[in-house]
Amino acid sequence: MATNKTFTMIKPDAVENGHIGAILEKINASGFRIVAMKLTHMTQHDAETFYAVHKERPFFGELVEFMTRGPIVAAILEKENAVEDFRALIGATNPVDAAEGTIRKLYASSVGENAVHGSDSDDNAAIESAFHFSGREMY
Ligand code: RTP
Ligand code: MG
Repeated sequence: MATNKTFTMIKPDAVENGHIGAILEKINASGFRIVAMKLTHMTQHDAETFYAVHKERPFFGELVEFMTRGPIVAAILEKENAVEDFRALIGATNPVDAAEGTIRKLYASSVGENAVHGSDSDDNAAIESAFHFSGREMY
């Protein structure tokens, strides 16, 4: 059953480049309600666990190094059809392929450093939300 929630991270590159405000503005303007949000710095163990599905991929080491090099903004977002609509808002993994106006087209610099994360299914949205937030941090 669709939960209408998704999980996002504003990644270290976008935080470093001062894009938190602009990205949150786009999220709000696109009709998502913020259910939970915090600035946090993932440890190596956190990043390896969060992205465990990619552990056999050649870019895994680079991905963990990138995701731990500075703070991120973690958030849970609510909207009808949240997972799919948020993936449309962020655009393709590689900013070269991302549609005009998407967050990655605007703020990502490469396939590795691509500004934002968005859950790819309702199940993963729930798992990823629970990874970063306890029930009493969700509103
Ligand atoms: P995300 O999980 O972060 O929302 O990204 P995604 O679904 O669009 O892409 P995914 O295939 O899940 O990859 C996760 C993240 O790994 C990095 N990546 N680097 N160097 C590379 O070829 C490469 N491929 C993927 C990106 O940070 C990507 O978002
Ligand atoms: Mg993914």
